[in-house]
Amino acid sequence: MSNDRRLREQADTAIETHQEIVKQDPYRQAFHMSPPVGLLNDPNGWIQWKGTYHLYFQWMPFHTGHGAKFWGHFSSDNLVEWKLEPTALTPSDWFDQSGCYSGSAIDYDGKMKIYYTGNVKDENGQRETYQCSAESVNGIEFVKNGVEIELPQGYTPHFRDPKVWKHGDHWYMVIGAQTEDLYGCVVLFESEDAKEWGFRGELSHSAGKEFGYLGYMWECPDLFTLNGQDVLLFSPQGVEADGINYNNLYQTGYVVGKLDYQQAQFQHNRFEELDRGFEFYAPQTTCDDKGRRLLVGWMGCPDQEEKAQPTHRYHWVHCMTIPRELSLENDKLIQRPVTELTDLRTVQRYDEQVAEKGIFELDRVSEMQIDGPIEEVNLLNYARLVYERDSGLLTLLRPALNGTVESRSCRLPQGVNQLQLYIDRSSVEIFVNDGEEVFTSRMFADTEARTVEVKIEVSTTANVKVWSLRDDVIHF
Ligand code: FRU
Repeated sequence: MSNDRRLREQADTAIETHQEIVKQDPYRQAFHMSPPVGLLNDPNGWIQWKGTYHLYFQWMPFHTGHGAKFWGHFSSDNLVEWKLEPTALTPSDWFDQSGCYSGSAIDYDGKMKIYYTGNVKDENGQRETYQCSAESVNGIEFVKNGVEIELPQGYTPHFRDPKVWKHGDHWYMVIGAQTEDLYGCVVLFESEDAKEWGFRGELSHSAGKEFGYLGYMWECPDLFTLNGQDVLLFSPQGVEADGINYNNLYQTGYVVGKLDYQQAQFQHNRFEELDRGFEFYAPQTTCDDKGRRLLVGWMGCPDQEEKAQPTHRYHWVHCMTIPRELSLENDKLIQRPVTELTDLRTVQRYDEQVAEKGIFELDRVSEMQIDGPIEEVNLLNYARLVYERDSGLLTLLRPALNGTVESRSCRLPQGVNQLQLYIDRSSVEIFVNDGEEVFTSRMFADTEARTVEVKIEVSTTANVKVWSLRDDVIHF
């Protein structure tokens, strides 16, 4: 039996063996893509192709830790209902035996072509890295082409996560990299046929004049144009916390500027964090047939203690964010839930005017919208969102694993006048001021907890709407 067949069968067996226990988990997500079993991390190959949305994902089927990753696969016609498809890639070849790491998808003459990183670690833990590709006529079964790009000189084998796009009649690829003197950077490759690639240089570097120092490795780069500007999104590792910024172990953010394709030079401004929550990393974007720039992120963080999450006991860990639409307003990325998500709504439980304080009983799977000057939201007696007018800080607090309280903040001098919360059985995504900031976090509240308390500024009123959401949209 081929290596690929054997690994596929083992992954299918892992699903069969554990799917009942996974379903019993009270923290199992209702409308967020989650692994059928095992560990999920980065979104990969995010594309709308021949009318269908495909989201592949980094997947360890055999346990809830990291290791030799597979590509799992979800598909959707509407961004609301998702169906688990057969395993897309297994780490079955010499060039990807320690993991089919992250990458992207393009339409290539009517076929789907994916680019990914083949990760190889020998017995001594020495790493090798190869940029590989595979093709498919249906987006479901892939034939690997093998290695397309070897490691160029000047970089360590931390060189991965190819993201490919077309500009004019050439193809371009960004890759996350580490220089030999241990700085993170993003490099650019160019190709006429999307097969033979030439190295063009570095687009941005951790020691660049815009940063001072921005870490020893940059993962999962993505480059796209919005409103006539070029945006480079990436996830740097090794950035020190600085006040309210960079408080997660690893960061995700972006720079905005202009890419000179001729010179392979990218003039850009400073780095901005994209999300303010505890779990958000390695997002990927795509452009769909409505011309929207759509983003999905991993609702996790690398090197977090996976086993500390309660879902680990039920043989799964981590999930994706909801799909979001990006726009660029005054050089700032704005994230809004895709409008299709209104189709998740079942019954409306509240549409109420509140003065000073309101108490709401929610279903465990809910959407809440608050319009008005918000001071505090107490979520299921677990997390609190607090706005302090004096400092202009909006802070999300939640219990930390060591028994203390941990917090994340962002600065909003204009105040908080609108919130949209997507609440699933173990997460919350809080969109602030129509997507100006977002807090994405897992939330392991007591499974009986239903109450959300909303406090607004004295002598003002707010409107609160609550809907229950569907819990039958992810099909395994
Ligand atoms: C980001 C990352 C990527 C890598 C993948 C491996 O979370 O470390 O750089 O390709 O995960 O699963």
